[in-house]
Amino acid sequence: MKADINKNFFATQIGSILATAGSAVGLGNIWRFPTVTGQNGGAEFILIYLFFNVFLGVTCMMTEFIVGRNGASNPLRAYIKAGNNKSWGIMGILAILCGSLILSFYSVVAGWCVYYLYLAITGGVLGSFDHIQSTFSALIGEKDIYICCAISVFFVIITHVIVVQGVQKGIERAAKYMVPMLILLLIALGVASSSLPGAWRGLEFLFKPDFSKVTMHTFYEAMSMAFFSLSLGTACLVTYASYFRKDANIGKFALQISIIDVVVAILAGITIFPAAFSVGVEPDAGPSLIFLTIPNVFTQAFSPTAGYYLSILFYFLLVLAALTSTISMHEIGTSLLSQEMKTSRTVAGTLVTIFCCIMGTLCALSFSHPNIGVMGSTLFDNLDSVTSKVFMPIGAFATCMLVGWVMSRKTVMRQLTSNNRYAWSRPTLRTFFFLVKFVCPILIGIIFVVNIFFTN
Ligand code: PFF
Repeated sequence: MKADINKNFFATQIGSILATAGSAVGLGNIWRFPTVTGQNGGAEFILIYLFFNVFLGVTCMMTEFIVGRNGASNPLRAYIKAGNNKSWGIMGILAILCGSLILSFYSVVAGWCVYYLYLAITGGVLGSFDHIQSTFSALIGEKDIYICCAISVFFVIITHVIVVQGVQKGIERAAKYMVPMLILLLIALGVASSSLPGAWRGLEFLFKPDFSKVTMHTFYEAMSMAFFSLSLGTACLVTYASYFRKDANIGKFALQISIIDVVVAILAGITIFPAAFSVGVEPDAGPSLIFLTIPNVFTQAFSPTAGYYLSILFYFLLVLAALTSTISMHEIGTSLLSQEMKTSRTVAGTLVTIFCCIMGTLCALSFSHPNIGVMGSTLFDNLDSVTSKVFMPIGAFATCMLVGWVMSRKTVMRQLTSNNRYAWSRPTLRTFFFLVKFVCPILIGIIFVVNIFFTN
């Protein structure tokens, strides 16, 4: 098999970092992280999450970068080349499936963000709590469900338009503008939120841990949050790493991206919790936190004019964050199908788009038609759980095994040092291989097995 058929590269180092950070930073940081933090106690969850993000996350990210740049092709070929065996191709297939399934439910929330941006601009997002609640209930209830379906399809199509333009003109260019803008907006919102009276209670919730509340489930949630947030186990990073230049320093990239990801998640917490506490809103509102709580907070905590502009900024920020991530999910399938079917990105991208539009519509419909879904949950929840709690840990586990035990040390070292460009000290190397061979797979395995089989 001719592996190096991929002529696409990111043009610059900063473009590579921003595009990959753009994939990592998304609704996971701004919608999921505050939600899960709120439901799992606050500061203690954040500390465990930080541990997973830094130790497990950076290590697993590096393994995916190694497989991706070594493969210099789509994930299917990259895994086969790394494992030197066709059966590793199953990882590529799982990856494209996982990326497309995430895009399907993710585009529903992204669609809500677009709708709320529209509402914010037209002044319809603020008001009494009854108004706020009925707006959200209508969107996911039978009445406005077709709007919900249409906007998630719209979001997938916007993603498609950017992705088919190519790696440099589409993905890299979009990330170069969007990621810095997103960080600046979050800082502005975080400052506004933490200057509210009573905001300190939110900061205390975020930064003062109480370990008596920690259970095994907290570890599981923190681990799956870290996977989701860093886009691990989906081959998204394998795909992007195939676009890295030969001189990209993989270890440094992974560390930088993880830092950006953590900073954005904490900034999102600083934006949401102090404001929520200042108006007496409970932090564990669940997935609707940013659609029910935030409009309520903006209405109560700020003057009407400040509330109006801040809500526009907030939902604009969410749309940006969502888009940089959906681009990366779409790219997994687009690159794989275009190379394997020997067709253009437009044709391959259209296939991915059609699949995600159909699945996304079903996810949106599942809110008002509970029979679309299994085990008493909506299809939306099913896909969220199965991808972040099953597919992603399996993907990350398998990639660690591949890099730690299957690939030759020489090939791994060639990628780690970028062909002897960067030196690694002996202790750092030892630690890396120890983490990849033992710590990460064992930790992922234990937490995965305990939670799948021993908790309900
Ligand atoms: N990391 C993204 C977020 O935090 O929103 C979600 C994500 C992107 C998951 C890309 C998987 C993926 F392949």
